[in-house]
Amino acid sequence: MIRKATLADRPRISEVRLAVRENMLSPGSVSKVETTSDWIFANATFWVWEEAGAVQGFSVADPRDGTIFGLFIHPDYEGRGLGQALLPLACEDVRAAGFAAATLTTGPGTRAERFYRTNGWEEIGRQDNGEIIFRKTL
Ligand SMILES: CC(C)(COP(=O)(O)OP(=O)(O)OC[C@H]1O[C@@H](n2cnc3c(N)ncnc32)[C@H](O)[C@@H]1OP(=O)(O)O)[C@@H](O)C(=O)NCCC(=O)NCCS
Repeated sequence: MIRKATLADRPRISEVRLAVRENMLSPGSVSKVETTSDWIFANATFWVWEEAGAVQGFSVADPRDGTIFGLFIHPDYEGRGLGQALLPLACEDVRAAGFAAATLTTGPGTRAERFYRTNGWEEIGRQDNGEIIFRKTL
């Protein structure tokens, strides 16, 4: 089941975020991620996939800048279509905020890189830290 998250889901969303084996949270970005999450919980939407009584994945856009802030699936639930089901909802939030395209960044050589390329995202550059910048027209 896909639904909008409530504040009660926040601990489990953090748990899923910390459970991933690629694109792990770097110590330097923890406080920025927390600040952005605070803003999104108050003003926008985390979309969550609930199964077996718990959140197993989520997608979330930042409608202030048109980015996909996160797409994370618990390792036990990868490869079952959760990512493909959740990502369009975050993209729709970006579109509804008035953007013609969404952007995101991800680590090179990861499953996520392959996932985005397969799903029609185009590389438009690299960040200083080597992360790939992807863009998709909405
Ligand atoms: C990258 C990530 C979001 C992909 O999510 P996912 O749910 O595993 O992806 P999907 O299942 O939707 O699609 C992946 C594969 O499953 C297949 N699939 C899709 N629907 C399916 C279904 N109903 N049943 C079985 N397989 C399915 C797809 O064809 C695809 O095949 P591939 O492995 O050959 O590419 C996930 O692996 C993840 O969270 N990774 C760690 C964190 C991360 O890197 N996030 C991105 C940060 S920017």
